[in-house]
Amino acid sequence: MSAQNETRRLAAPDIRARKGGEPLVCLTSYHAHTARIVDTYCDVILVGDSLGMVMHGLETTIPVTLDMMILQGHAVMRGSKRALVVVDMPFGTYEASKEQAFASAARVMKETGCGAIKLEGGRRMRETIAFLVERGVPVMGHVGLTPQAINTIGSFRAQGRDEGDWAPIEADARAVADAGAFAVVLEAIAEPLGRRITAQVPIPTIGIGASVACDGQILVLEDMLGLSPRVPKFVKRFGELGPSIEQAVQSYAQEVRARTFPSADHVYPMRKPTVTKLPERAKGPSRA
Ligand code: KIV
Repeated sequence: MSAQNETRRLAAPDIRARKGGEPLVCLTSYHAHTARIVDTYCDVILVGDSLGMVMHGLETTIPVTLDMMILQGHAVMRGSKRALVVVDMPFGTYEASKEQAFASAARVMKETGCGAIKLEGGRRMRETIAFLVERGVPVMGHVGLTPQAINTIGSFRAQGRDEGDWAPIEADARAVADAGAFAVVLEAIAEPLGRRITAQVPIPTIGIGASVACDGQILVLEDMLGLSPRVPKFVKRFGELGPSIEQAVQSYAQEVRARTFPSADHVYPMRKPTVTKLPERAKGPSRA
């Protein structure tokens, strides 16, 4: 095996096998540079459709297209070599039929080289998930708060905060597992419900605003780095990059205006002329 091939990328069955084991570390990334950093520490990199809001300033994930996901998915694959890269299926590219879902997922996998896709929905996606898995597409499910349903649910609020609302969410998680998904994201649900679903389903649960008892956790990278202006309650800011980026941009602007950047260290001097040594003249009788 060549040195280049020594790092084997994690695959969906590796993640599936981690049920009940060491917690799975997952983050989103949309670029090659951040993927390179995240890859060192994470088991799963999700190219989430949250890129619509984070990269493009959209209000919701609804306008995100398959082409946008493929472009960033490809960038993340180039920037990483160890983590399983999962690419989100955007709204309108998989819900109409299982055939539509397969055509979209096959395009994503062929054009990015990613190892799995993620789609939102529980019981209503059961047949589609089974169809994809049978045809070689590893699927990560996503239940609880499903942001692509914003126009029917009305707001991004936590789900299952009354025990009477638990049954459909539990049924969704079980349906995703029964259909053959290798893992399921539980987003913004009451903590005891996250714990209960984790104990019930045979596949890893990946929590985002769910429970510390989940088999893994995921956050949007820009949220946990302190770059997003508004974040949900479940986000812990592990960094405050916003102020340090602003500081750097301010210093750059000042130095450009003061003509102190670029300095001699950041420009290219001319090459020193090379001195060509002439051959010594043969000594002969002087004419003088
Ligand atoms: O799009 C995304 O980033 C996601 C995560 C929040 C799980 O789906």
